[in-house]
Amino acid sequence: MYIKRAAVIGSGTMGADIAYVIASAGIPVIVKDVQPEALNKASEHVADLFQGRVARGRMTPDDARQRQQLIRFATTDDALEDVSLAIEAVSEKMALKKQVFQELDRVLPPLAIIASNTSALSITELASVTGRPDRVAGFHFFFPAHMMKLIEVISGRETSRETVSTLRQFAEEIRKIPVSVKECPGFVVNRILMASMAEVLRFQYETGISYQEIDQAITKAGLAPMGPFVLGDALGLDVALEVARTLTEAYGNRFKPGRQLEELVEQGHLGLKAKKGFYSY
Ligand SMILES: NC(=O)c1ccc[n+]([C@@H]2O[C@H](COP(=O)([O-])OP(=O)(O)OC[C@H]3O[C@@H](n4cnc5c(N)ncnc54)[C@H](O)[C@@H]3O)[C@@H](O)[C@H]2O)c1
Repeated sequence: MYIKRAAVIGSGTMGADIAYVIASAGIPVIVKDVQPEALNKASEHVADLFQGRVARGRMTPDDARQRQQLIRFATTDDALEDVSLAIEAVSEKMALKKQVFQELDRVLPPLAIIASNTSALSITELASVTGRPDRVAGFHFFFPAHMMKLIEVISGRETSRETVSTLRQFAEEIRKIPVSVKECPGFVVNRILMASMAEVLRFQYETGISYQEIDQAITKAGLAPMGPFVLGDALGLDVALEVARTLTEAYGNRFKPGRQLEELVEQGHLGLKAKKGFYSY
């Protein structure tokens, strides 16, 4: 199946970037959020990204305007009637995602695919609330979606081969590299990333070494382009906490989030998006 029009549900850290990636490839996309402020922020973010491309000489102003116009922002489901793929990118909560999946199942055309950008939750469980489990899959972008090439295409128990093949083709169309992954909590990348994050948090707590010193040690050693605390703030500490909880439930205490992560989230220090996390911005 060819994806002529897509939708992104949830216009936060990931949703806005995903919409930009899709529109950049010339595919019309509707972005839906329940919060008008989130849509305004997403619209500004997308405009900044296009302007950046123009400023770097990667796109003409005309091209940028045309691509930007492919994105429509909405707070209702009206515009979703003729999309063939919806990518859900709402907060990492199973109950909320199930509610969104039920709603999408009701409003989307019968042949449309519903994909989730979830970091760790079960695709099979999400699919179970729809009448089209064969057309449900994970389509997991990495942060920041406009730069990171990889997309994990995750099959649930009932995901059809055709759905996987359509999503792999779509990933290539939007200039990403798909990797097919069988379902397991955290899939491939987050299972590995979150194991290291848990160890880094334990290490910091036990030694009292500052976030900055640890971040510098990791980047100076060339282990990663940014340190774990800078990365955590950029991803969103609420998202990191939810993922750590899912993985702890699935694999045990090796993924247990440290008390400091829980305290930061309780205090509303969610990272870059709240201007305060491990660091202040
Ligand atoms: N942040 C990351 O680095 C990252 C990376 C990869 C995957 N993910 C996954 O992507 C998803 C979104 O994460 P995020 O960091 O963008 O979250 P976020 O908190 O930044 O944004 C979530 C958005 O969803 C909106 N929303 C809530 N309920 C909604 C509803 N019923 N309908 C429409 N919109 C609704 C919120 O208003 C908010 O704008 C999560 O599943 C997360 O695990 C996040």
